[in-house]
Amino acid sequence: MKQHERYVVAGGRRLEGEVAISGAKNAALPILAAALLTAGESVIHNAPMIRDVAVMIEILRKLGARVEEGPAGVSGRTLHIRADGVSSLEVGADFTREMRSSIFLMGPLLARVGKIRISYPGGCAIGPRPIDFHLRGLEMLGARIEERFGYIEASVPRRLRGTEIYLDFPSVGATENLMMAAVLAEGTTVIRNAAREPEIVDLQEFLNKLGAKVRGAGLDVIRIDGVRRLGSVEHTVIPDRIEAGTFLAAGAITGGEVTVQGVIPEHLDAVTAKLREMGVTVREGAGSVTAIGPRRLKATDLKTLPYPGFPTDMQPQMMALMAVADGTSIITETIFENRFKVADELRRLGANIKTEGRTAVVQGVRSLSGATVECPALREGMALILAGLVAEGETEIEAIYHIDRGYQNLEEKLTRIGAVIERR
Ligand code: UD1
Repeated sequence: MKQHERYVVAGGRRLEGEVAISGAKNAALPILAAALLTAGESVIHNAPMIRDVAVMIEILRKLGARVEEGPAGVSGRTLHIRADGVSSLEVGADFTREMRSSIFLMGPLLARVGKIRISYPGGCAIGPRPIDFHLRGLEMLGARIEERFGYIEASVPRRLRGTEIYLDFPSVGATENLMMAAVLAEGTTVIRNAAREPEIVDLQEFLNKLGAKVRGAGLDVIRIDGVRRLGSVEHTVIPDRIEAGTFLAAGAITGGEVTVQGVIPEHLDAVTAKLREMGVTVREGAGSVTAIGPRRLKATDLKTLPYPGFPTDMQPQMMALMAVADGTSIITETIFENRFKVADELRRLGANIKTEGRTAVVQGVRSLSGATVECPALREGMALILAGLVAEGETEIEAIYHIDRGYQNLEEKLTRIGAVIERR
């Protein structure tokens, strides 16, 4: 990771062409953790080549799993994972600080080896992100959990026991963590008020191919009948709906025509509906979606919600679109308390945005002008690239290591459809 690298984007180009979408980051991460549940082989296709996945692979290796990485492909690479000899059970702060998703290791490791010591995941730029639902659910499944010296130490006396769990909020990560833990538990687990994201359905498919008995993913009640052991699996990760939405937004903001290939159009419904409200022409094909931007986008209002509502991971990108739209847009962020940091950076480019608590009021301006800005986080960084694509002159975007966490071959993909972007 090179902390000092930056993107320089020259504004004013209309983007046109096709983009191949990679495997979903948020599906690949829990699936990689789930590979620890079995001594058998997990073959995972379309694992995106991004920093977060590289970190997860490093952690799996440190825990004693063997991971072979296949050749690079447009949608990611194939991984062969064998976790027959999982021995080291400690995950240190160097990993958990860099990637909060390392919390996913708790469920599988408790189920498989009954013990884990993991450094407490830190907060991040989009809010404190507590893990209380994860810990409470694991305790209900029979884990003993102690928090000391910045570490969470968890153990299972014998075997996890199935139980009824109600989540106060449909947390994506807690739903996935508890599903993975329950797969090898004794008896049946029911998770109520579960998150319904497509990535959870993908995890269910992966687990069931391994021999687990999970049903209900995609609905708000998930039932898991525990089994004694799991086998081997071959699975293709679903396409990344956030990467796809981001490229459609790039077509929309530049008045261009961008087609994302290899997607599941239904997963993008909330995003395409908003783009249409903003005056974008959207065409859906089999496995593709095209966005054709208007001369000027129209303002609209937006509220983030758990799936199938509008994804918070597309909220910063939409803020960039609204910044240049005709009229006033209002964004209500209901998932994370502190996800408007990019507004400060967009203002440096000339945007007119006011934020107050969970609400942002975006008064569209006719044009933005290039300046030096800094990525507060992953999706926020993409919002700055989108703004840079239409700003007059050059926009320098610093701290792009955030963007590397989640976008495979970003500058190649953008350059191929006509953007002028360079990594320096
Ligand atoms: C996942 C996604 C992330 C996305 C988010 C919401 C992955 C790897 N990351 O994150 O990209 O933005 O879903 O769609 O899939 N909460 C608690 N206690 C908990 C857990 C969560 O209070 O124990 C709160 C969070 O602070 C937040 C809300 O619940 O306000 C939703 O968080 P959650 O769905 O858990 O997000 P992540 O799984 O962290």
